[in-house]
Amino acid sequence: MYINNWYVAAPVEDLVGNEPIALRMLGADFVLFRDESGEIHCLSDVCCHRGAALSKGKVSNGCIACPYHGWVFDSSGVCVKIPALGPEARIPPRARVDSYPVREKFGWIWVFLGDAKEEDRPPFLDDSWFPEYYDKENWRTVRLNYEVDANWQRSEENSIDGAHPSFVHKSFGSKRDPQIQIVEVQKNEWGASTTRERTPPDRSQKTGAMREITAEKRGKTKATTSFTFTGITHRIDIKRSDGLSQCTLSHRTPIDQFHTRTFSIQARDYLLTEEFDKERQEGRRNAIKEDVGIVKTIRPPLPPRRPRSELLIKSDQLESAFRATMQKLTRKGWEIDSDIVERERQWQVYAIPSPARREDPKNWVHPAVPTVTPPSEEQG
Ligand code: FES
Ligand SMILES: [Fe+2]
Repeated sequence: MYINNWYVAAPVEDLVGNEPIALRMLGADFVLFRDESGEIHCLSDVCCHRGAALSKGKVSNGCIACPYHGWVFDSSGVCVKIPALGPEARIPPRARVDSYPVREKFGWIWVFLGDAKEEDRPPFLDDSWFPEYYDKENWRTVRLNYEVDANWQRSEENSIDGAHPSFVHKSFGSKRDPQIQIVEVQKNEWGASTTRERTPPDRSQKTGAMREITAEKRGKTKATTSFTFTGITHRIDIKRSDGLSQCTLSHRTPIDQFHTRTFSIQARDYLLTEEFDKERQEGRRNAIKEDVGIVKTIRPPLPPRRPRSELLIKSDQLESAFRATMQKLTRKGWEIDSDIVERERQWQVYAIPSPARREDPKNWVHPAVPTVTPPSEEQG
């Protein structure tokens, strides 16, 4: 798992009124709340006094009060009141918790979990990742978010894998032609992309309204898959030879190493009315079930640390590019050392460092989560 990334925390509509919500991300605990003006804030959920969950407390005047001894924290995470010491209390400088940048996009609440300077952060997603979302006239969208008991990287590698549909998915992928095109992978600093032509599924694989509008004979389908580190995002574009298109934008948030939340929106430029949403959602749910069924069988549950412990081949082009991107981020020192966190979790809270730690790395109760030492340093 990596710090210094934007992650989707929750759908915007999950945060109602001034009720705070508790969330686990990257193996750490967070609280999300809205202030009176509607602005959303995200703090570490572990009170720096004696560890109670702030998310069980009350929000008022843009602050959240711990349910245990009533310490009040403002939206920047600084403690502004310690009731047991009275109004004249001198508040210790370490009386604060991490506060993280928050944004809204595509109907999701995003938080930046890390302390990197703005110019070093992965770029926040812009509209070009999903222009269809704003074009309500020509595109119809359905949203889906779900949780699975599987590692985020294993899940993401499954999503961007072009060779598995023919075997794993009943309604797409071609049983008669599982060969995939080997193409050039377009790489950039934070991700990569491929466009392949593939044999479409037979009409008999389709059901419901989809079968009605699918011809018996079709030409090749063009599939573009792109991924980027920001939000562990991928976009899959399907352009059928009959002119129908569909695209899906998905983001993955590790809850911890073994549990993952996925947030996705699918847009289609056919069957544009609401009545077809149910069928589309069902299709998505079935596909997810098929994927999860396989991903849960993968051993080891985490990607191997020794590359030769698996046999990646040419058809795994994009998955290889994904692993290379993650290795680059490990070399930046952004990978959480989960071995240490797991070993000490019964007696030590590690916080995901927030931007305020850059200015003052010392005055914190919970130490920043340890990160994996980049291999080059180890050898040197
Ligand atoms: S544990 Fe939060 S105020 Fe005491
Ligand atoms: Fe799949």
